[in-house]
Amino acid sequence: MHDLPPETPAPELFTWEFATDPYPAYAWLREHAPVRRTTLPSGVEAWLVTRYVDAKRALADPRLSKNPVHHAEHAHAKSKTGIPGERGAELMTHLLNIDPPDHTRLRRLVSQAFTPRRVAEFAPRVQELTDGLIDAFAAKGEADLIHDFAFPLPIYAICDLLGVPREDQDDFRDWAGMMIRHGGGPRGGVGRSVKKMRRYLAELIHRKRDDLGDDLISGLIRASDHGEHLTENEAAAMAFILLFAGFETTVNLVGNGVYALLRHPEQRARLQRSLDAGETGLLATGIEELLRYDGPVELATWRYATEPVRLGGQSVAVGDPVLVVLAAADRDPERFDDPDRLDLSRGDNKHLGYGHGIHYCLGAPLARLEGQAAIGTLLTRLPDLRLAVDPSDLRWRGGLIMRGLRTLPVQFTAV
Ligand code: HEM
Repeated sequence: MHDLPPETPAPELFTWEFATDPYPAYAWLREHAPVRRTTLPSGVEAWLVTRYVDAKRALADPRLSKNPVHHAEHAHAKSKTGIPGERGAELMTHLLNIDPPDHTRLRRLVSQAFTPRRVAEFAPRVQELTDGLIDAFAAKGEADLIHDFAFPLPIYAICDLLGVPREDQDDFRDWAGMMIRHGGGPRGGVGRSVKKMRRYLAELIHRKRDDLGDDLISGLIRASDHGEHLTENEAAAMAFILLFAGFETTVNLVGNGVYALLRHPEQRARLQRSLDAGETGLLATGIEELLRYDGPVELATWRYATEPVRLGGQSVAVGDPVLVVLAAADRDPERFDDPDRLDLSRGDNKHLGYGHGIHYCLGAPLARLEGQAAIGTLLTRLPDLRLAVDPSDLRWRGGLIMRGLRTLPVQFTAV
């Protein structure tokens, strides 16, 4: 696909066709304009970085700041984080909006609470949640895997992990539903949902201070570094970013992942055979490959040059936004053999789906756990799962940062 003749005109970005299949456009960009100044649908100008080598370099470059105050258009800027409804200084203290040394301090504190061990101990609960969601539709012989499965799973999982009482979790489901349906801009209902979620978390943190348990919020309150603790505001912002960063991403991992498997019957059959044989190796490499092949995060979150930066032969000026297109880098033929082929056993698969450098996804162990439980259990329990509509009838949610299916209607033999 990257051998398009040079006279091929530049593809249109951010159209309906682009949201459905952005990969031909990315191939063109990698080949002809690997670091390209582009006008985004919002009217903001930004550099799109599409080659793997440049993407990796940009993600780790300390001259590219995460703090929106460095955006040349800051005075006019609305939400730059990709978090709907986000505005105002008190919301700026989360990991994806700050640089060292603040980032280092907050990340160290949260890492004390959100440990790989905590995630590993959470595995039985994720399995229970997965089975419970499948139980609810298994007898019907049909489901919308986004609405009935991929969407509720991460919400309940993160709520449980944080320590949100079960009776309050359906409120989170509703708020998150509003965010995912209307995400991408600080519009009325979304703004209200974000506010309610944040207010709830702030109150929960306040209550838990006097009644610490072994949940993640209590862990955030307990965490300390050289005698320093998270303030209540910081803890609330942290709980919110965990929810926000871990929600739509996981929905899309499951949605895009199952869809890719349904479109590649021979790969899916291989995985199904290995699961039937009680093996987990192919499931683990397979989830990584699904992340590379059609990952949930199309573009890494925003970065702004604090010094002039040469990138891919272009001069990025101070204040310019830089958007690293993870989905394009992960299909770069310079880095991956036969990049447009889905190969669940692909070795040497250092994809950028979880980012790279100091902002590397903090939730990657949880995402892997959820992705493996969700996809492994679906294929095992509903072995004849099939798409219920023609692929051309599927609609994609193509925000700027995330890319995923709106619905995924499937059929299977009722059990
Ligand atoms: C950061 C992807 C799931 C929490 C990131 C970044 C990416 C990413 C690409 C870096 C963004 C950048 O550099 O601009 C994903 C994908 C997921 C996933 C593909 C699912 C398949 C999760 C989950 C959680 C989480 C489940 C937590 C519950 C975070 C946090 C950050 C982050 C807190 C910010 C880290 C920092 O700035 O230091 N994620 N993520 N993510 N992710 Fe994830």
